[in-house]
Amino acid sequence: MSNLFRTKSVDMILAQSEAGERHLKKALGAWDLTALGVGAIIGAGIFALTGTAAAGDALRPGAGPGLIVSFIITGITCGLCALCYAEFASLIPISGSAYTYAYATLGELIAWIIGWDLILEYAVGNIGVAISWSGYFMELLRGFGLDASGWRWLTTSYNIGLQNPEIVSQAPHLFGIPIIFNLPAFLVVMLITVLLVIGIKESARFNAVMVVLKLVILLFFIVVGAMYVKPDNWTPFAPNGWSGIMTGAALVFFAYIGFDAISTTAEEARNPQRDLPLGMMASLAICTLLYVATAAVLTGLIPYTELNVPEPLTKALNHLDLDWAAGIVAFGAVVATTAVLLVFQLGQPRIFFSMSRDGLLPQKFAEVHPRYQTPYMPTILTGVFVAVLAGVADIAAAADLTNIGTLFAFVLVCAGVIVLRYKDPDRPRPFRCPGVPFVPLLGIISCLYLMISLPWATWVRFGVWMGIGLAIYFLYGYRRSRLRESNGS
Ligand code: ALA
Repeated sequence: MSNLFRTKSVDMILAQSEAGERHLKKALGAWDLTALGVGAIIGAGIFALTGTAAAGDALRPGAGPGLIVSFIITGITCGLCALCYAEFASLIPISGSAYTYAYATLGELIAWIIGWDLILEYAVGNIGVAISWSGYFMELLRGFGLDASGWRWLTTSYNIGLQNPEIVSQAPHLFGIPIIFNLPAFLVVMLITVLLVIGIKESARFNAVMVVLKLVILLFFIVVGAMYVKPDNWTPFAPNGWSGIMTGAALVFFAYIGFDAISTTAEEARNPQRDLPLGMMASLAICTLLYVATAAVLTGLIPYTELNVPEPLTKALNHLDLDWAAGIVAFGAVVATTAVLLVFQLGQPRIFFSMSRDGLLPQKFAEVHPRYQTPYMPTILTGVFVAVLAGVADIAAAADLTNIGTLFAFVLVCAGVIVLRYKDPDRPRPFRCPGVPFVPLLGIISCLYLMISLPWATWVRFGVWMGIGLAIYFLYGYRRSRLRESNGS
């Protein structure tokens, strides 16, 4: 029993990363980290899921213009969690994020659970983002006059395609089964995987360019849209009351995910103590302001009931015959989601890397490429997993599952801050979360509240996923753990 809760001391974690040949290159500064954060945050959430959150769908009531409040609630929740993440990231600047923090505080079993859970955030999250990328990319091609309507069997997710008789009749059949595959989603993930194997610095530069572009385009939407807002659209403000606002908040949580992704690159940061908290808080603050403004403008442009579409921002602009502006925003959405894909594809292998360094996953996962110095094995594995599933999965299900998994990881990180303050009070904390234990406790309560606002089907999937993870731990990691070996237990 005590083996399950064995913890790795912070000193041991730091020493292990210093020693050994498995080093990652230290190439990232404060600007790179803030850009990585913004790169991960602004994406499919604001460009695609915002509409469903406002209008509602079969699974949830809509927030209406009250979406503005949803964004504020979720922003505050993430702010509380970011303070906890920042304390940990500055204390333990090791790749692996929440997984590593849990190993030091809550024990090996919980660390494994978080590591497994983070696959939902990074890899499953990217499945959703890739699908949204593909949708906007096809929109953009249409804008350039390229008609791909005969090829919808190759640009649609399997589930969605199956529900559409026209797509089924277009599709070639194999043994009577229609072949429906989202090829653009598959290809973009594979392309990014190649980029990440080649090297992190190159990728960070590429990301920085995309971040500037997407900030400009979101500002463009806010400024141009503000000139056409009709305040009448803001009433009724909360058509489904508090419950609509909270289900909206739980869905748009997806739009905030990503500030924590910075912590997975801690080992590659030049000055992690100062730059990690800075990068996280800065990117979160920038995005919250932009989201609240975007929600206000969006719900002011068009009655919220018309927003349950995959491209709400362009729909609002088209509604006002601003097709030129819609084209620019569609371009922005493609750029934005590309940047998100990049950061998440960067984060997932680094978590695998840490888990395998601890012996909880096979050693292959910690192999650093001799020339490019990147964890190439898990990068390729993540790439193939995400690309194939992005070809077949459905976006709403992927987003809900991502949200529940990420919220759960946040709960454990907040709890970990409190635990480590008690267990190891004197360790220097370059960044201290203020108001402990109240701030982390508030973080935990707000995350749990968002979790219970998600559809029940999501809870079932989450349970199944966790069950599989526990089985793998007891069959593999429990026996192979390096910590177990070094304890001689
Ligand atoms: N926050 C990221 C997005 O909105 C996951 O796409």
